[in-house]
Amino acid sequence: MPSPVQLTVLTADLAAVEADAIVVNLFQGVTSPGGATGAVDQALGGRISQAIAAGGLKGRLGETLVLFSASGVKAPRVVVVGLGKREGFGEEAVRRASAAAAKAARQAGARTVATIAHGAGIGGLDPETAARATVEGALLGLYRFTDYKSKTAGRSDSPDDEAPAAEGSRGREVTELRLVGDDQTQRPALDAGARRGEAVAVGVNLARDLANHPANVATPSYLADAAGQIARRHGQRCEVWDRAQIIREGMGALASVAAGGPEEPRYIILEHAPAGTENQSPVVLAGKAVTFDTGGISLKPGLRMGMMKMDMSGGAAVLGAMETIGRLGLGRRVIGLVGATENMPSGTATRPGDIVTALNGTTIEILNTDAEGRMVLADVLSHAQRFQPAAVVDLATLTGAIGVALGPGAAGLFSNDDALSAELSAAGDRSGERLWRLPLWDEPYAKMIESEVADIKNTADSSPSPAGAIFGAKFLERFVTYPWVHLDIAAMAWGADRLAYNPKGATGFGVRLLVDWLHAGA
Ligand code: BES
Ligand code: MN
Ligand code: ZN
Repeated sequence: MPSPVQLTVLTADLAAVEADAIVVNLFQGVTSPGGATGAVDQALGGRISQAIAAGGLKGRLGETLVLFSASGVKAPRVVVVGLGKREGFGEEAVRRASAAAAKAARQAGARTVATIAHGAGIGGLDPETAARATVEGALLGLYRFTDYKSKTAGRSDSPDDEAPAAEGSRGREVTELRLVGDDQTQRPALDAGARRGEAVAVGVNLARDLANHPANVATPSYLADAAGQIARRHGQRCEVWDRAQIIREGMGALASVAAGGPEEPRYIILEHAPAGTENQSPVVLAGKAVTFDTGGISLKPGLRMGMMKMDMSGGAAVLGAMETIGRLGLGRRVIGLVGATENMPSGTATRPGDIVTALNGTTIEILNTDAEGRMVLADVLSHAQRFQPAAVVDLATLTGAIGVALGPGAAGLFSNDDALSAELSAAGDRSGERLWRLPLWDEPYAKMIESEVADIKNTADSSPSPAGAIFGAKFLERFVTYPWVHLDIAAMAWGADRLAYNPKGATGFGVRLLVDWLHAGA
């Protein structure tokens, strides 16, 4: 699965580069730009400094200025993007600025965009990081989900007026991104950074696609097919269990969620183990993939229920990460586990009060069929034991409560291992996919999951109940026997376009974080 945007790296003078648009940058408060921006400003006879002097450009993070038909540079459009303040500047600012610049270039009609690696000069980033973040930001920012827009549909109802009618409803797309450096000695670093940035963006955009597809398309079998394609592209092993096998193996918790509908569940095992790593104790990535969450018999209210097509975002992040890991040829054994099912109400659906047995033998009293994600993960996390993992990270859109606690600022992190928790948090800070740790103390939380009749119950029997996200994590803890991190991504997986590199809809949250952590040597 190639990126729809072709990526090239070249060493050249930006003013002489052939492209529909070139991109340079500006730190906030700078009045006479230096470096590549200064060179372009000079070639343009000072038009950038004039714009700054006239108050037309402050350099605020993500602010853009587009200059047209500028003589002195070859490209017919010059985009200047703000990098924000120097303090606090880092790779996350680069991603945001690069996304804003790429979208401004597209809006201005560009198909081929040439950019410098933001932050490599006075920004103080090493050239590889600058290149990676620039490419990530641009490719993530340019992502659009248009699969269901018919080509002949009129544009009048579209809020997006950037596409000439002749281009159809997909609009004009950027087809080529050129990363330009002026120093041949930096070329290997730019190449490496660009390659990694592209691999990450392809994985994130794959995860976004899976979550954006509606539930009548992105079914559990669709996810299993996607996993099979990832495996084929990168020489990974893929094993898929159907309903009969899920029941036969003893996954009574996952099966109880799938009982409500005819749509077949799938349990997906993807293994990346390049030659020489087959006997490593693996890192396991585990994902909740409820392809549609109605709540089951404990039916959700109708308002905005359609959003629950995104309840497979944890599984989508695992698949996206496996795609990126495969592309990069990561030299470490990694196993992706995805529990995929719908959660539907019907005459065959699980009832509140039912008791089922999970793969590890734990009996669960199901008091609320809408707490189905923890049922899915109970079996997935039990199964993960069989691989004798070095570490397991699960990702799940598990609770609305995590959004009450943290809003869209961070995913909730729960862990039984301080060192592992710190590693993931650091990867979150670097990748811009931030995490915030919440407690798993036995006192007072262990009591919450005790059941009168079974080993544990899946929800409190009163509502509203306190500490909903912690309840979910304490429940999952009963199924782990290894160093473990649980990430509740319910408030991060779907968004308004708050950040320049995140479109409306699925964000693909988790892929960047996981790849950063693995790359740092997990
Ligand atoms: N999929 C939901 C959680 C969710 C909520 C994801 C909002 C994304 C946005 C999960 O299965 C769920 O329904 N959780 C319940 C748990 C409750 C019944 C204990 C919730 O959060 O209300
Ligand atoms: Mn639910
Ligand atoms: Zn759910």
